[in-house]
Amino acid sequence: MILIDGKKAASELREELRQEVAELKTKHNKVPGLTVILIGDLTPSQIYVRNKEKSANEVGLKSDVIRYPDSVEEKTVLEKISELNKDDGVSGILVQLPLPKHIDKKKVIEAIDPSKDVDGFHPMNVGNLSSGYESSVPCTPLGCYLLIKKIEPNLNGKKAVIVGRSNLNGKPMTQLLLKENCTVTITHSKTKDLKSECLEADIVVAAVGIPELVKGDWIKEGTIVIDVGINKTEKGIVGDVHFEEVSKVAKALTPVPGGVGPMTIACLLKNTIDCFKRSQI
Ligand code: GUN
Repeated sequence: MILIDGKKAASELREELRQEVAELKTKHNKVPGLTVILIGDLTPSQIYVRNKEKSANEVGLKSDVIRYPDSVEEKTVLEKISELNKDDGVSGILVQLPLPKHIDKKKVIEAIDPSKDVDGFHPMNVGNLSSGYESSVPCTPLGCYLLIKKIEPNLNGKKAVIVGRSNLNGKPMTQLLLKENCTVTITHSKTKDLKSECLEADIVVAAVGIPELVKGDWIKEGTIVIDVGINKTEKGIVGDVHFEEVSKVAKALTPVPGGVGPMTIACLLKNTIDCFKRSQI
């Protein structure tokens, strides 16, 4: 079984991006800039944002974090986004989720200029991705996609089963695999027989938020299994895949932690650089 090393893949991607940033700096005399808006003091969000900042600096990007208290008015955030949209020094804007209840997530996402939307959450990017046009792609599915391609460069005709239909993961993952000519099935909590769906798959992507849902006898031999889950349990952090069981049958499997997670932030940096490059044309 191939244990997919997301830390190593992310580190290699960051090195490529570092070189690219250096070349862009020589060519344009400026570097791409990422601005993150962080509202409130939720610990996981603080940790994500700190990691994003650290990684951005590591590859030579300009990185800013704008912090607001939980009580900030929606209007203030929307005005700041509008200001950042007009700022030439800002290539990418990310508003860290989740937001406090009094702030409308849809309004905030739609306020971001689609050409600076490094999360790929704006409806314009969602539409472009599903139409097969150039777009920002959400970072986690993009990271999963790059890991799958490392194991199997030719995905033509492969059967992929996605467990979970979220806008963040399941849906964009489907679009990326469709583009690669996979036959894609999206499953979710109301799917009749998840096990038999998964047993058909050459590729399984589990992004559903249920600890160790995908069992060893759900997976046929030779399948690539990507585990997007991060679930806190009594025995520590586990994914959506039963690692011990599935590692006995899969061709390749991502561990949790150390699989998909590290790729997500590296892909955010990639998206920032791609937004910059498109803005320079
Ligand atoms: N919070 C957790 N993951 C994400 C993400 O990918 N993007 C944003 N904006 N917030 C998040």
